[in-house]
Amino acid sequence: MDSLRFDGRIALVTGAGSGIGQACAALLAERGAKVMVLDIDQAAAEQAAAAMGVGAQPLTCDVTDRHAMREVVARIEARHGRLDILVNNAGIIRDKQIRNMAPEEWKAVLAVNTRGVWNGIQAAVPGMRARGYGKIVSMASRAALGNFGQTNYAFSKAGLIGMSRALALELGPDNITVNVVAPGLVETPLIRQANPELHERVARATPLGRAAQPREIGEAVCFLASEAAAYITAQTLFVCGGRSAKSARENWN
Ligand SMILES: NC(=O)c1ccc[n+]([C@@H]2O[C@H](COP(=O)([O-])OP(=O)(O)OC[C@H]3O[C@@H](n4cnc5c(N)ncnc54)[C@H](O)[C@@H]3O)[C@@H](O)[C@H]2O)c1
Repeated sequence: MDSLRFDGRIALVTGAGSGIGQACAALLAERGAKVMVLDIDQAAAEQAAAAMGVGAQPLTCDVTDRHAMREVVARIEARHGRLDILVNNAGIIRDKQIRNMAPEEWKAVLAVNTRGVWNGIQAAVPGMRARGYGKIVSMASRAALGNFGQTNYAFSKAGLIGMSRALALELGPDNITVNVVAPGLVETPLIRQANPELHERVARATPLGRAAQPREIGEAVCFLASEAAAYITAQTLFVCGGRSAKSARENWN
């Protein structure tokens, strides 16, 4: 079998109603997986899953709700017999310089970006362990290296990388790989509308000269979730057009 295909695999992608998560879910479905399109926004999950065809099913859940995430995984396993691939993509930003950041903004970002990921993993791991197979891929950000006005976000994404490396040690003996993708700026509808000027600046600061398309991040996720990456675990793949090789100083111009 083509090691980059997912025939017979069951995948769960969080935050899949929009942007990068939607692209990851669509690529997994195109390559043969049955994909659970999970989002806190029911309409977004339904719309995204419908566009992906029969291989995709919508699910509504808040990743910060530990019990709800356990129920979601239990339902998937009851219905499909297994969960092979978990893509922890749901994430939020609440950017502000520290002098203006409220504790609630710190807490909200950590709740989704770090604890939400931990919830999904804790729910998925028992079944993966029992079956001796699992691929966990989580979405960090190049901002884990530092980004102006993002103390909460950088902390959450750097924490996600550390957590994944620690988990890879625990789960390796059960044939479960744990990896991270760290995108630079990605052209999601939200970002394009919110700040067109940011695109210009990021393009100038990026060695490849442009922002990424969501599917370019999805390709990295698919690789790490595939058998082509069977011997890769505890790694962070920066998909940022080369920006990880530069200092954060370009953001201060
Ligand atoms: N867009 C970028 O430039 C960029 C760069 C680096 C990393 N990232 C990361 O990629 C991931 C996706 O970003 P995006 O740009 O596609 O964002 P997006 O806002 O387009 O999509 C995120 C999705 O997650 C869902 N979501 C939010 N909170 C949730 C929760 N508590 N439970 C379940 N679903 C929830 C939203 O409803 C939305 O559909 C995030 O983790 C983000 O931090 C994005």
